[in-house]
Formats: sequence, C-alpha cells, structure tokens
Amino acid sequence: MTDLIQISDDRGVRLIRMNRADKKNALNAPMYDAMAEAIERTATHRAIRCLMIAGAPGAFCAGNDLKDFQQAARDDGGLGDSVIRFLHALAGNEKPLVAAVQGVAVGIGTTMLLHCDYVVAGTDARLSTPFVSLGLFPEAASSLLMPRLMGHRRAFALLVMGQPLNAEQAKECGLVNAVAAPAEVDALAMTAAIQIAQLPPDAVTLSRQLMRGAPDEIHKRIDDEAEQFRVRLRSDEARAALDAFFARKK
Ligand code: COA
Repeated sequence: MTDLIQISDDRGVRLIRMNRADKKNALNAPMYDAMAEAIERTATHRAIRCLMIAGAPGAFCAGNDLKDFQQAARDDGGLGDSVIRFLHALAGNEKPLVAAVQGVAVGIGTTMLLHCDYVVAGTDARLSTPFVSLGLFPEAASSLLMPRLMGHRRAFALLVMGQPLNAEQAKECGLVNAVAAPAEVDALAMTAAIQIAQLPPDAVTLSRQLMRGAPDEIHKRIDDEAEQFRVRLRSDEARAALDAFFARKK
C-alpha cells in the first residue's frame, strides 16, 4: 500500500483518500491497486458498513496519469490491469459508497462517481470527461451508466463533447446530491457516510442491491470499453493529444 492513498476506518466508515495533490490526484497503477484492495477487503469486513472516497482541496482527481497513457500508447497497451481491477472493484462493491468532491474531477475522477450512492460536491467542483478530445474512449461503464442517469443528450454533451459541469449542474443531472462550500465538503460527506453506517446493514445491502440491479452488465461494459480504449490509445489522435498536454506552456 502506498501513502499516495490514505486509508482509515472510523465509526463503520472506511475513508479512502487520494493523496497526490502535486499532480492534482492523477491516478497511477499503485494508487488504483491500493484503492481496489481497500474496496475489495471490505467485502468480508462486517464492521465496515460504508466507504467514502475523497481527494484534496482543489483536486478530487485529475483522472488517469496521462504519462501512463503515453507509455501504454508506446507499448501498445491499454488501460492497464490496475485500472481494470479498480473498475471491477467499484462495480462489484456491495457497501454504500460516498464521495467528497472538491475542485477538479476529470475523466475517471468523474466516471467513478457513477458507481457512488451519495456525492457531495464543493462549489469549486468542475467535473469533466475529455476522453474524446484526447482521442480516447469513455471508461468505467460510463457509456452505459451516464446516459442511464442523466439521459442521452446530457450524457453526450459531457462524455462526447467534453462539456464540463459545475457542482450545481452536476446536481441537476443527478450526479451530485449536495453542494457545499469547499471547506465543508469532506465533513458533510462524512456525516452522510456515518449516517449510512448506522443503518441496519443487511437492510441497506439488500435495498442497494435491488436498486442497482445485477452488476453483470456493468462488468461487461467495463471490459468492452477497455477493448475500445486499447485501440484508441494506439491512434495518432490520442498520441498527439497526450504529447500536447505535456508540451503545453503554463
Ligand atoms: N496526468 C499526469 N499529470 C497530471 C495530470 C494527469 N492526468 N493532471 C495534472 N497533472 C500534473 C501536471 O502535469 C502538473 O505537473 P507539473 O507540476 O510537474 O507540471 C501538475 O499535475 C499540476 O497540474 P496543472 O495542469 O499545472 O494544474 P491546473 O490547476 O492548471 O490544471 C487540470 C488542473 C486537472 C485541469 C489539468 O492539469 C488537466 O487538464 N489535467 C489533465 C486531465 C486529464 O485530461 N485527465 C485524463 C482524462 S481521460
């Protein structure tokens, strides 16, 4: 486990905090593995009744580490085993999942929210999925879950056109439950997580299972998207967009 991901258990809640603020919490393979493991291990951990994912002030998560995508493009690779493991851990997870979103939430920083049950966002939140403008392809079963949540047209604007959402717009789309001042986001999300953790756990699990339905379709979509993603990563469009990100002048 790496300190780029901090894990702590308190009052029935497992808090998973992304802790790479200097890179805006861009996720690399060890971070995905640490988060996947933290989620997977709660399956048999009855005392943990709710999970919460949080980031840093100003940066929930800037998406996948684009240097890793550059490397994968050179190696003819795809999303990578650690990413896929994390996505399946999210889809297969049976504990309620709360997210606290401050600042930027790019790519998987936004699509992981589709697997959450309760999301608090700061007034500074900016959610975006610029997959297509990077020459890439949606992941995390977002091509299934995003239109299902907000309807095709809004999902198209976000997923294909790359139009970002602020916190209020994300709330309107059903992606966010509550909007708060940035400094209050984590505490508000934790309050919700503790409330969930105090509910009768079996009743919560069964209700959640029925509401979400069988996860098979979601697991399959994660794999189908990953196949397309691998193809897209090798494209000239993606290579050029990734090079342009690191060549940009600040
Ligand atoms: N992968 C790798 N490094 C990243 C990154 C990512 N996804 N996002 C940010 N970083 C790095 C930057 O390269 C920079 O590193 P440096 O200080 O060594 O130069 C550092 O994090 C800070 O980022 P910066 O761009 O200076 O911060 P900002 O506040 O101006 O912008 C973002 C923040 C998130 C809007 C911007 O960094 C960005 O667009 N990142 C890419 C997001 C993305 O496309 N993700 C993948 C989606 S599929």
